[in-house]
Amino acid sequence: MLSFFKAFTLLIFLVTVEARTRRSIDLIAAHSLVADSRLPREISPNSYNLEIAPQLNEGTFNGRIRINVTWQEPTDKITLHAYENLDIFKIIVTQFVPDDETEKASPKSLLPTQIRVLKTQRDPKTPLYVIHLEKVANRGTQCEIDLTYKGRMFNDTSEGLFRSSYVDPQTKTQKWFAATHLRPNLARKVFPCFDEPEYKVPFVINVARHKNMTALSNMPVEATKPMEEKPDWVWDRFQQTPPMSTFSVGIVISEFDYDSSNFDTEYQKPGTTLHSKVRVWARPDFISALKNVTTKVFRAIKILEEFWGCPYPLPKLDLLALPNYQATRPADNWGLLLFKESELSGRGSWHISQELAYQWLGALATPFWWSDAHINNALARYVTAYTTVKMETNESFNNWPMTMLYSIYYEFSKRYPHGKSTAIKQDSTSAKTELVFRMLNYTLGERTFKQGLQNFMKDRQYKTFFADDIWKSLTVQAKKDQVLKDDITVNSIAGSWITKDRLPVINVTRDYDKKTVTISQRVYLRERPHDVPDQEKFVWWIPIILIREDKMDFTNSTPTVWMRKQREITLTDLPSDDKFIIINPEEIGPFPVNYDIQNWNMLAQYLCTENRVKIPVNTRAKLLHDAWNLAYAGDLSFATALNMTLFLKHEREYLAWDPVFTLIDHIGRHIDSSDVHKKFQTYVRLLLTPLYEELGDEPQDGECEGKSHLRSSSKVFLCQAGYKPCIEEAQTAFKKWMESENPDEGNPVSNQYICPVFKWGTNEEWEFGLQRVINFPVNRKQSERTYLLKTLAGCPNEAAKIEKLLNITILEQNGNFTDNDVYLIFSMLTGSANGYTTLFNFLKKNWDTIKVRFEGKLHLWNSLITSATTVFKTQEGLDMVSELYVQRQSEFGTADFVIEKALKNIKEETKWSNDNLPVIEQWLDEYLEVNNATK
Ligand SMILES: *[C@@H]1O[C@H](CO)[C@@H](O)[C@H](O)[C@H]1NC(C)=O
Ligand SMILES: *[C@@H]1O[C@H](CO)[C@@H](O)[C@H](O)[C@H]1NC(C)=O
Ligand SMILES: *[C@@H]1O[C@H](CO)[C@@H](O)[C@H](O)[C@H]1NC(C)=O
Ligand SMILES: *[C@@H]1O[C@H](CO)[C@@H](O)[C@H](O)[C@H]1NC(C)=O
Ligand SMILES: *[C@@H]1O[C@H](CO)[C@@H](O)[C@H](O)[C@H]1NC(C)=O
Ligand SMILES: *[C@@H]1O[C@H](CO)[C@@H](O)[C@H](O)[C@H]1NC(C)=O
Repeated sequence: MLSFFKAFTLLIFLVTVEARTRRSIDLIAAHSLVADSRLPREISPNSYNLEIAPQLNEGTFNGRIRINVTWQEPTDKITLHAYENLDIFKIIVTQFVPDDETEKASPKSLLPTQIRVLKTQRDPKTPLYVIHLEKVANRGTQCEIDLTYKGRMFNDTSEGLFRSSYVDPQTKTQKWFAATHLRPNLARKVFPCFDEPEYKVPFVINVARHKNMTALSNMPVEATKPMEEKPDWVWDRFQQTPPMSTFSVGIVISEFDYDSSNFDTEYQKPGTTLHSKVRVWARPDFISALKNVTTKVFRAIKILEEFWGCPYPLPKLDLLALPNYQATRPADNWGLLLFKESELSGRGSWHISQELAYQWLGALATPFWWSDAHINNALARYVTAYTTVKMETNESFNNWPMTMLYSIYYEFSKRYPHGKSTAIKQDSTSAKTELVFRMLNYTLGERTFKQGLQNFMKDRQYKTFFADDIWKSLTVQAKKDQVLKDDITVNSIAGSWITKDRLPVINVTRDYDKKTVTISQRVYLRERPHDVPDQEKFVWWIPIILIREDKMDFTNSTPTVWMRKQREITLTDLPSDDKFIIINPEEIGPFPVNYDIQNWNMLAQYLCTENRVKIPVNTRAKLLHDAWNLAYAGDLSFATALNMTLFLKHEREYLAWDPVFTLIDHIGRHIDSSDVHKKFQTYVRLLLTPLYEELGDEPQDGECEGKSHLRSSSKVFLCQAGYKPCIEEAQTAFKKWMESENPDEGNPVSNQYICPVFKWGTNEEWEFGLQRVINFPVNRKQSERTYLLKTLAGCPNEAAKIEKLLNITILEQNGNFTDNDVYLIFSMLTGSANGYTTLFNFLKKNWDTIKVRFEGKLHLWNSLITSATTVFKTQEGLDMVSELYVQRQSEFGTADFVIEKALKNIKEETKWSNDNLPVIEQWLDEYLEVNNATK
């Protein structure tokens, strides 16, 4: 927590200092780079001339950089970024333009002259390199700083200038290659420079290479000349780049090939905007795996050019598949993209679209500082999704944006969003901002949205930008197109969403006599308790897009009205009392919607009719998803929410089913300590069996990904709910293992079968699994052992199995299980009522022994108390835990705070159970009776 607040305050400080005139609204991005060592603003670069001569075999390189700079303030110090792997041994500073004053006095003074360097200085804690000059130079002075240095290439990571190798199968020789990956701030590891994104200037890049190799950089080669000191070596000089940030520099030296046969002539015709030359490179025997990449690239570029309204900015583009590429993200050097081999040869086009999107957003227009990088990422994510969806016409790419949307609904409605993880926070904040762009695309209209972004790009190309620049361009265009009222700005709309770690929920209550509707907003909270401080301070700009049954039109996504941070508004002229309304169709805004019971019921009934398909599938999914989550949060009756599932009997589109599995899982876990759980499982079987039988056991040729996904999900959930055919299938598969001669040599059973066998199978089967963990050979993959152990603990329905596991691992201590294993077991046991109840009873029964065992292992003790006490959900559980607390009050030690918190949580959950279980049970009873399934 502390570190986050530290970063946060620091961030605000930097943003206010740096952005004196323009302020970014993106104050929340706690990017670690925000605190990167800044350079003084006294001197700024005008251009670079870089010479690099890598010795691939030795892993070193020689470099020389000449930087043309101008003094902005008087100073006798030049401060640059240079990482410690650079050994700078020669410095010449030449002044060729005098400062402003001298220039005025005598315009033709005698220049150029050298300025003597007194000393240089490196601070061991920062990557800064300071050159002290003999005199102060004044504003307007222009110099060339000429630095010669040696560097070391990186061998084990793909950053800076790194090298790696592969074996050429024909000659059986080792082939080296070198490449650069300078994002986000690693240029300083390759050449001394002003390594901040705001300094965008042209580069001339020169690379020395053996003549058998090829050198690539951002631009095409302009000239090649022999190297004087080394025969067989040459210098390639590349054309000067447009102004760009240091991290955009890219260099590759290799013996790769490219396939010239797969140029797609359609994109080569005169008149198309793509004049550029695209080549896809790889080691020679990998080229054939990249057959279709060029076509994908052409298609993506075409979509992006159309989106940005400007052509791909450079004269060429090279994409490379690198063996052993280590970084998690491809290197998106401008005009020179480096991928893992598997990423470039993979089926989808998302990776390619993403890196291409950055060629405009990031390379052509660049965020001023890392605090603006967050907006850049979010917009690039949106543009990537837009491009990918357009390219993959027959496949709705990863169900964009629904899968992501559901996960941010869960994340932001937690009591403590993101836990303490900055990574989760960054990702969900970025996802949310991406959805804000999607919302703007719908509410302003695609034409206005695109035009606004195109104006932004035109304005900021070859320059840097602040988040505000994007919002401003959108506002100006929206005003021009009259899609926003004069007093509304996109900045205020976007700001209300981006600056909060929360999302709203709206409550829609109709007055059927007056034909009006009252709409109110508040913070969306799902996990209980809902005691989040300062809730009343949260308000959003919310677009109200209203669909009515009597004039159903899902094509118009213009808001009827914006809720302008108002808590409540009322709309009139609603349809009659037998017609439903839907607000926020297609999840246009990232927020759930609650209705009054009558409107919910009209929706539930309508969905059960053939007319269902008039409501688009993502809206059908939303209605179901919202209803269940609102019920889970305690804001809607479960009977109403369960009514919303009735249409699934007829529903076969996988997008509508997609959220159902998560819901079954969440509710199932929540009620699995009560008798209702059996009825719920019967209900799940009734819901999924017809679907699964219709899909069939086996995938058909050429079926879409969604369908096979639906098949496997319904199978997993049916198995969990005890569907006989599935359990038998699993046991048959498991039997092969039990009958094999050397069962410890390997596991022939696919993972999907293991949990059903441990859950519904015999004791003998479970014991067999346990023996396999105990005997697990050290030379086999340990992740397989972990998987077995997890399922042995997490799956069983019977307390006896778990007790046995606990006896062996904790009481017997025979050396077969490590502390980490014990942790894993504890955390798995919190997943089911059987698990944590058995753990609790075990703790109670063996209290004294365990206390002794865990003496000196406080973390294990705390973890045990947490797992054994915190997840109960009923009165019975509350009584059990309270009793233990009273009995052992003084003995909890370090875990004392755990149990107090546990009691508070269980009270909340008990209240939920008392309120909801009877409702769920009654609904299930009626449902099972109607469906003739009373078991
Ligand atoms: C240095 O940069 C300035 C500004 O771009 C330019 O006018 C000047 O010609 C450059 N000088 C040299 C020696 O390249
Ligand atoms: C990489 O390996 C070479 C050869 O062993 C070595 O000279 C170089 O210093 C290494 N690079 C780094 C960054 O350690
Ligand atoms: C360069 O290519 C020539 C001819 O193909 C070959 O004979 C020579 O061994 C190669 N040299 C290196 C260092 O690979
Ligand atoms: C490449 O494209 C062709 C036709 O466009 C297709 O038949 C083939 O399956 C594709 N190959 C790969 C590896 O995607
Ligand atoms: C929704 O609004 C109505 C009317 O203002 C109110 O009675 C109801 O309690 C609200 N529902 C929720 C879940 O806040
Ligand atoms: C559920 O649906 C049934 C049948 O449509 C209806 O009679 C009942 O009132 C609904 N229950 C709730 C709580 O909305």
